[in-house]
Amino acid sequence: MTDILRALVLGGHGDIGRAIAARLHADGCDVVAVGRSTFDMRDPSQIDAFMAREGNRFELLVHCAGLNRPALFENLSDADIRESLEINLHGFLRVARACLPHWRNSGFGRV
Ligand SMILES: NC(=O)c1ccc[n+]([C@@H]2O[C@H](COP(=O)([O-])OP(=O)(O)OC[C@H]3O[C@@H](n4cnc5c(N)ncnc54)[C@H](OP(=O)(O)O)[C@@H]3O)[C@@H](O)[C@H]2O)c1
Repeated sequence: MTDILRALVLGGHGDIGRAIAARLHADGCDVVAVGRSTFDMRDPSQIDAFMAREGNRFELLVHCAGLNRPALFENLSDADIRESLEINLHGFLRVARACLPHWRNSGFGRV
């Protein structure tokens, strides 16, 4: 493992992600902050292509990507719930799975 930690911040252009990315950068991390313009968390092939380009090498993974659409639960449609799960759960798990070999090989990784 190198001394400088590489951090991937999903949703890194959003309100929470931007603040976390700035803090990690100030703490000396090499930060890659991504949003929809980088890849769509709902699209497995876009995730795979991005992670392959980056060599799957991130020591830190921060997940702040998500939809911010305040609504009463009973008013959410099936499509709303499915979309949230695609971004918040499935997309995230796909990214985390791509990170795992590096974490195992280097003996270090944090979510
Ligand atoms: N703010 C709060 O007080 C609060 C409280 C509790 C929970 N949360 C949840 O925490 C998460 C982040 O909140 P936030 O306030 O930072 O929201 P935000 O400002 O709307 O930022 C959301 C981030 O997620 C990214 N994103 C959305 N859909 C995406 C997709 N399909 N593929 C890739 N990236 C996608 C956005 O990309 P772009 O930059 O391209 O738009 C943006 O960077 C949300 O899920 C929110 O519901 C927020």
